[in-house]
Amino acid sequence: MQIYKATDYKDMSRKAANIISAQVIMKPNCVLGLATGSTPIGTYQQLIEWYKKGDLDFSDVTTVNLDEYKGLPRTNDQSYYYFMHQNLFDQVNINPENTHLPNGMEPNSEKECARYESLIHSLGGVDLQLLGLGHNGHIGFNEPGEAFEKETHCIDLQERTIEANKRFFASADDVPKQAYTMGIKTIMQAKKILVIVSGEDKADIVAKAFFGPVTPAVPASILQMHNDVTLVGDEAALSKIPR
Ligand code: GLP
Repeated sequence: MQIYKATDYKDMSRKAANIISAQVIMKPNCVLGLATGSTPIGTYQQLIEWYKKGDLDFSDVTTVNLDEYKGLPRTNDQSYYYFMHQNLFDQVNINPENTHLPNGMEPNSEKECARYESLIHSLGGVDLQLLGLGHNGHIGFNEPGEAFEKETHCIDLQERTIEANKRFFASADDVPKQAYTMGIKTIMQAKKILVIVSGEDKADIVAKAFFGPVTPAVPASILQMHNDVTLVGDEAALSKIPR
């Protein structure tokens, strides 16, 4: 695992954007696995800035997102579809037809998860997967206790995740209780993985996930077994890792 220490959120975002843009430059028709949450917003802003300067071209890029709330329409400003269009897709020259997320409005979980998983396979897999990290060690929406061998599936969100995400909704009751997410197995099949972390509140989980035992109780800990993981974190988030 490569660890890059950034001074702050802006520096973390810039370093992560550098790694993503290197991927796009080296393989213009790459498949990027993308993430939502507050952590990647700065990374996307940096990519947009470089695109606007003429330094990046997304015309041949394909994207697959990690997850989507079940039951939220695309027009809901808390859907990950909306988030991705707002924070990246609508601001760069990516072909919207080449951007993919699970369809939260498909009520048949089995059908939707099978469709999404086979889509990823038909694209030849993910070249570079971007990941944030939940406070309980979740990646995508793979909550603690989930089997490592799962592919895309429907999950019940844990109380803590609902709590953490309620700031974006009118109340905790409005936060969807389920989501579709790539499974750990899907994530582990990505050729490269880039994890970004920021802030003191992530310091404990970063130390546990990357330097503690590999266990389903900390879903991100499985990343220790991947052969091409890069962790970019700011000083606060990396403050508890061993020297
Ligand atoms: C959500 C997303 C995850 C994300 C996590 C952390 O639960 N499904 O993909 O990594 O939040 O979010 P944040 O970056 O806001 O801390």
